[in-house]
Amino acid sequence: MKHLLKLEGMSKEAILEILSSTKNIKASRGANEIKPLNAQTWAMIFTKSSTRTRVSFEVGIRELGGSVMFLNANDMQLGRGEPIKDTARVLGRMVHGAVIRTYAQSDIEEFANLSNIPTINALTDDEHPCQILTDIFTFQEARGPIQGKVVTYIGDGACNVPLSWIHAASTLDFELRIAAPAEFQPNNEILAKAKGNISCTEDIQSAVDGTDMVYTDVWVSMGMESEKEERLNKLANYQINQELLSLAKPNALVMHCLPAYRGKEIDEDTFEANAETIFTQAENRLHTQKAILTWLAS
Ligand code: CP
Ligand code: NVA
Repeated sequence: MKHLLKLEGMSKEAILEILSSTKNIKASRGANEIKPLNAQTWAMIFTKSSTRTRVSFEVGIRELGGSVMFLNANDMQLGRGEPIKDTARVLGRMVHGAVIRTYAQSDIEEFANLSNIPTINALTDDEHPCQILTDIFTFQEARGPIQGKVVTYIGDGACNVPLSWIHAASTLDFELRIAAPAEFQPNNEILAKAKGNISCTEDIQSAVDGTDMVYTDVWVSMGMESEKEERLNKLANYQINQELLSLAKPNALVMHCLPAYRGKEIDEDTFEANAETIFTQAENRLHTQKAILTWLAS
């Protein structure tokens, strides 16, 4: 039984297969597409908000021949205290696969173990694997192999998105620089386990110097709302703007997983100047989700 629960420990072979299949799936959309989810019904269980992940999976599952049901976790008995382990065993007897967005990574892993159906992490507090697979695809589509390139992440360096970037860098051999205030850097345990060329600094200028990609994410991730004011203050100097970008390679890509908060992690001019890349990145969520679903079905 295959799952996509995290990039940590995911094989290079599997990542490369998904990236390669994304290219073919994007190119053949709407023309002689294979339907690996024919006669299947997938459940999407979301405890947190979503636009891109939800829409891309719903469209992707349908385009691959499957049916999909969206379940707001708070409308389920799960929201009233029914354990994950019971929910998993019920759904495992009725649907063919599950896409889950929630807080604890352990909840998704428990669901995968007990449901006995392919399970996809659509974002937890620890990882956002589908996003980072899309991001790497988008970079490679525009600039060729990511191997040997430099990716700079600026902002909250301890949330799910940079954590998935760390595991991707370990596996795919590119340099990852994380620029964040010390208290928003990934914890030492994660960094100690990660192999490869990964560094953390509070100095955004040195992190951007000569980089091939400048990437950011929201300063206040879902679940962190009570820390909003503190985070906005402490991260105020970690904004992507034109002045900072002048230090990167002239053709450096500016990427954002979205949603974006202009004037916070990125300024309006920089966002709009890079909108084509950012919305291609968003579109590529669909093609990558289809590649992930196809990989799970194979
Ligand atoms: N980037 C991303 O996962 O967006 P959503 O939260 O809208 O799904
Ligand atoms: N780090 C963000 C990603 C949103 C797609 C969050 O968890 O809210």
